[in-house]
Amino acid sequence: MSQVNSQIWTEKKDDLRLLKMELREVLITRRIPEPGMAMISRECKIRLWDEDRPIPREKLLEMAKGVSGIVCMLTDRIDAVAMDSAGAGLKVIATMAVGFDNIDINEATRRGIVVGNTPGVLTDATADLTWALMLSLGRRIVEGDRMMRKRGFTGWSPTLLLGADFAGKTLGIIGMGRIGTAVAKRASGFRMRVIYFDPNQLSPEKEKELNARSVSLLDLLKESDFVCLHCPLSKDTFHLIGEKELGMMKKSAYLINVSRGAVIDEKALVSALVNGKIAGAALDVYEQEPELSAGLAELDNVVLVPHIGSASIDTRNQMAVMTAQNLIAGLAGELPPFCVNPQAMSKG
Ligand code: DGY
Repeated sequence: MSQVNSQIWTEKKDDLRLLKMELREVLITRRIPEPGMAMISRECKIRLWDEDRPIPREKLLEMAKGVSGIVCMLTDRIDAVAMDSAGAGLKVIATMAVGFDNIDINEATRRGIVVGNTPGVLTDATADLTWALMLSLGRRIVEGDRMMRKRGFTGWSPTLLLGADFAGKTLGIIGMGRIGTAVAKRASGFRMRVIYFDPNQLSPEKEKELNARSVSLLDLLKESDFVCLHCPLSKDTFHLIGEKELGMMKKSAYLINVSRGAVIDEKALVSALVNGKIAGAALDVYEQEPELSAGLAELDNVVLVPHIGSASIDTRNQMAVMTAQNLIAGLAGELPPFCVNPQAMSKG
């Protein structure tokens, strides 16, 4: 096809797509970064919850009425009730996150609704935050910062804020998917030994490349100096780390969670931290997000950040673009480029 012809063909194809989508109305439950907003506003009529807080449930149900697509956040529960609210015309749900535990995927699939997410693009940002938390916790950065601001630093001391070493220590990774692997890659720079627990074992080549060894959950908890959680939340991983598991960890060990809050029994964690069963914890995610379990905020041996694993400018821009691509493809009856339930296409 000549250059000119292919251009005409593309224009025609775009015209067709525009025609097909002309009346498509979509709900966006929170303003997403501009590159994604711009793509969606070119092709759809938007209903936007434009406040600086997650959309309340009753508003979501009200604003979803009759839409063909929903762009949701990980803070929104998209279940059968929400899908009912939208009605039979709902074709696509595009979440601006890699995790999709907030969406009832089986229900969406049964109804022929395709669901898109944003895998891959946030891997490095989330792995970087994991290391930032591990280093802050182990080297007591936040405690030091608090001391400086209170003018509590009276001069160098041989015993001030002594923390953990990293070189030669063992990093235990629970969930060796994309993010777990990126965390493991960074460990060689710190000269750490890496062990991991994942139902899907890596190939021997990959294990060699990462210098990582597969172990049981029990062995990982017993041997690790730092335990990082990178598994998705599911019925199998809900409260994966509770009182019993915390009791198996070394008293000198640290726990880091950047996956989903409910993977840890947060009450049991507070008790383990208070009773010195483990040395400390760093959390990006919370069981009852955005609430904290009683006692957590009062502890010095924790570092707490507000679910910012993927919060770098470029990453969030790219997540917004992927979300828009998923939405637009789903509205046009095409398979979203990042689809978690492609089998829904055969039900539509
Ligand atoms: C995700 O994408 O699931 C993260 O938790 C938020 O970026």
